Amino acid sequence: MDPKSFLDEKKDQRLNELFEFLRFPSISARSEHQPDIKACAEWLADHMKKIGIEAKIMATKGHPVVYGSLMTSPKNMTILYYGHYDVQPVDPLNLWKTKPFEPTLVGEYIMGRGTTDDKGQLFTHLKALEAYTATANTLPVNVKFMIEGEEESGSEHTEQFIKDNAELLKADVVVVSDTAQYGKNIPAVTYGLRGLAFVEVKITGPDRDLHSGSFGGGIANPINVLCDIIAKMHDKNGKVAIPGFYKDVKPITAWEKKQIKRLPFTVKEFLSKTGSKGIHGEKGYSTMEQIWSRPTLDVNGIMGGYQGEGGKTIIPSWASCKITMRLVPHQKPHDICNKIEKYIKKICPKYVSCEIIKHGGAPGVVVPTDGPWLAAAGKAIKRGFGLEPVFIKEGGSIPVVGTFKSVLGIDTLLLGWGQNDDNAHSPNERFSVKDFERGCYSALALIEELAQVKR
Ligand code: BES
Ligand code: ZN
Repeated sequence: MDPKSFLDEKKDQRLNELFEFLRFPSISARSEHQPDIKACAEWLADHMKKIGIEAKIMATKGHPVVYGSLMTSPKNMTILYYGHYDVQPVDPLNLWKTKPFEPTLVGEYIMGRGTTDDKGQLFTHLKALEAYTATANTLPVNVKFMIEGEEESGSEHTEQFIKDNAELLKADVVVVSDTAQYGKNIPAVTYGLRGLAFVEVKITGPDRDLHSGSFGGGIANPINVLCDIIAKMHDKNGKVAIPGFYKDVKPITAWEKKQIKRLPFTVKEFLSKTGSKGIHGEKGYSTMEQIWSRPTLDVNGIMGGYQGEGGKTIIPSWASCKITMRLVPHQKPHDICNKIEKYIKKICPKYVSCEIIKHGGAPGVVVPTDGPWLAAAGKAIKRGFGLEPVFIKEGGSIPVVGTFKSVLGIDTLLLGWGQNDDNAHSPNERFSVKDFERGCYSALALIEELAQVKR
């Protein structure tokens, strides 16, 4: 049997196996889920062994990496597949229509946390490989897998892992399916991602909550102060107001503007994916330019004061918030963290204290658009989807992509099978069975196409 016929035959089985993978609540951000992370890594390593990949669990200072390899011949090129088996937290739970870790078919969709980000997408490559190992066909490439367990919490320990295992991870190209198509039936190869810088800010006023009648007016309210600081993060044109924030940002190239112009885009359709009333962003740039190629600053969460039922008249003792900034290539996460720290310290009034925790982040990346890898990826998608792919960038981040380049010198192919309205990080995450299937066939074609690339 040829590999493609194997895929044709095993549709139900691979869906059931994916469901097993999806049932682990492998939430990397929550310590209470550490046992689930471990169990998920073990399941994955076992599954890889079952389909003929030599697999092992490798410890890091954080969650473990599942490593696998299948070496065929030194003459063949080597693909390093990267993905993540961890998922984002599921709250607010009450908005889920199905249980996040009980994968369910609803119409054309598999519903559940991790379906598209990233278990379902990652699984397509394992199933493509199985189509070789389970049939008598010779795999024309060497393969390695590095599947991590803390991508959703910033891949804090992954750079060290890559440095420590540089020889083991040596490959010609990295393949990642953790992005999205451009739209329904518009498959894409992604050639750039934004990076990220993350800080937490805590403002403390009185040493305990105070009666707002007895003290309000005479003592600063830390929530008011924090809101004032947050309000000073942008100017009236939607630009980030931190001095030096744009210093390393390069202008958008004419080539990129042309790519954007070629893509179908309507504000109406864009808004329909979000449920928002209108668009908003940095003045002077189109929506796609804002998301692909301009850095941003967002407050992701804000805490402090009384949150319970009814009212409580207090001056709260403290307020804090989490801020992330999406970065474009050449901006350095540490430099940006230092700049925001300096700015907040400068604008924060002296009658409160201010603590800033800098978590660093990951740089933005672009991959060469003219090399043989991207062309091979394009051909594979065309075969798997029966549709011509478009070339796009994405506003999200995959921290290790920059590390693969800077530490190992390897470029990454970003091939996403999902949709950006598949509710990644939101309630009711989903992945259409059709996209999962087309992903499997494209992953299979990719092996053949990459095997033919002249190195
Ligand atoms: N799959 C996403 C990356 C992504 C998001 C690509 C949107 C394209 C569009 C990935 O799992 C992710 O969410 N990464 C985090 C990284 C962060 C925690 C450092 C992100 O972008 O927020
Ligand atoms: Zn994610």
